[in-house]
Amino acid sequence: MSVTILVGAQFGDEGKGKIVDYISSNADMVIRFQGGDNAGHTVVNERGAFKLHLIPCGVFKKGCKTLAGTGMVINPDELLKEIDDLTSNGIDVSNLYISSRAIILMPYHIELDCLSESSGRTGIGTTKRGIGYAYADRARRDALRFENLLDDEYREIRLNRILPTINAELVAKGGTAISIDFLREKLNYWAARLSSRIVDAVSFVNDAINAGEKLLFEGQLGAMKDIDLGIYPYVTSSNPTAAYAAVSSGFPISKITEIIGVLKAFSSAVGTGPFPTEIKGSESYIFRGSGENIDDEFGARTGRARQVGWLDLPVIKYASVINGFTSLAVCKIDKLDEFDEIKVCVKYKLDGKEIHHMPSARELERVEPIYVSMPGWKTQTRGIRKYDDLPPNAKKYLEVIENATGVPVKYIGVGPARDEIITR
Ligand code: GDP
Ligand code: IMO
Ligand code: MG
Repeated sequence: MSVTILVGAQFGDEGKGKIVDYISSNADMVIRFQGGDNAGHTVVNERGAFKLHLIPCGVFKKGCKTLAGTGMVINPDELLKEIDDLTSNGIDVSNLYISSRAIILMPYHIELDCLSESSGRTGIGTTKRGIGYAYADRARRDALRFENLLDDEYREIRLNRILPTINAELVAKGGTAISIDFLREKLNYWAARLSSRIVDAVSFVNDAINAGEKLLFEGQLGAMKDIDLGIYPYVTSSNPTAAYAAVSSGFPISKITEIIGVLKAFSSAVGTGPFPTEIKGSESYIFRGSGENIDDEFGARTGRARQVGWLDLPVIKYASVINGFTSLAVCKIDKLDEFDEIKVCVKYKLDGKEIHHMPSARELERVEPIYVSMPGWKTQTRGIRKYDDLPPNAKKYLEVIENATGVPVKYIGVGPARDEIITR
């Protein structure tokens, strides 16, 4: 039995998809435990290049069960599109299950998110996938869940109860009211296509744990965008931190055996909010690329150019504290191959004083990152597969991360493809 939780240690897009695809070779079940199709998880393997938004990245492993878990908000149209796309690529999706307690992300959630973003009221720079509004409906007990697809009578009662409030909100925000017939039709279609995949995920997960299976929980986004612990209000609406896998799935935290923090060898973020180590101007091109390559820094969901910057150790340390990482996966070390000198932010100063905590977003906007410079390795790492073969300066770079967090680096990504990895 093993229960491994894998989460992002920065601002999202750390390379979670690649690492889940790699380690799911040793998993019986992979569970996405929060978020929705705001995620873009890139996988490059012998089957092709994929950007997954809702389906766990363990889907490529033959016979592995995948579960869209309870903590998720799922747009059924997007899920069906993803199922159909994978199926047409010859990937078997018959082992995909959906938690009966997962929230159905409705068309009006997307509309409300878009209206909010375009009004500039919040200025968060969301992915406009309706995520915040679906979670808000969950909190105010106005959401429909996948269990409602199995009961058309109750579904109708719920829809009638919910819709007046939703329509009032749509109109107040400058949108147009949505018709019950349109929604009823959609729900009927989703019920016809998805009902057979809906399970009681609490038993599904706990039975698997008790049967000694190997479970891998796949997080979405990263620690700094956690709704409670991140750069509020520039955050998502769920908890991309490890403990939430247990909270949302309903298994005891005592069953957790490993917590993997995934980070990029540098920093990136998309959306608004503070980003202390940002590199602006032409230098950022070295990290970002032109957008032509699968591993260039453009949003896997929205295509937006990501902000990029030097590695921010206060962020990694904070992520490590709040998640309790037992091991780290460091992706994209190959992207540092060309540098003569590599900068690493080791601490922050706020109003001239060193600080040892993660400040609020407002304070983070004005921290001064304190950098150390390390010599680069000026050697191609992409073809390397053994830790001992890494250039000494690359090993020193990894040691700086290990020393700062006290957590061993177990996986090192040296390219976007599944086999471009070093394990220790
Ligand atoms: P996720 O959201 O955490 O799954 O990450 P994304 O897929 O959004 O972004 C990570 C990007 O880095 C993708 O373009 C991956 O193809 C790429 N990538 C992941 N690991 C590596 C690596 O070790 N080296 C290189 N060059 N690219 C990588
Ligand atoms: P993966 O799983 C990077 C960001 C958005 C915005 C904030 C809130 O691929 O790492 P939301 O649409 O969730 O309400 O937007 O969170 N964001 C992501 N940034 N990677 C993601 O997912 C993201 N999902 C949301 O840009 O700042
Ligand atoms: Mg991503």
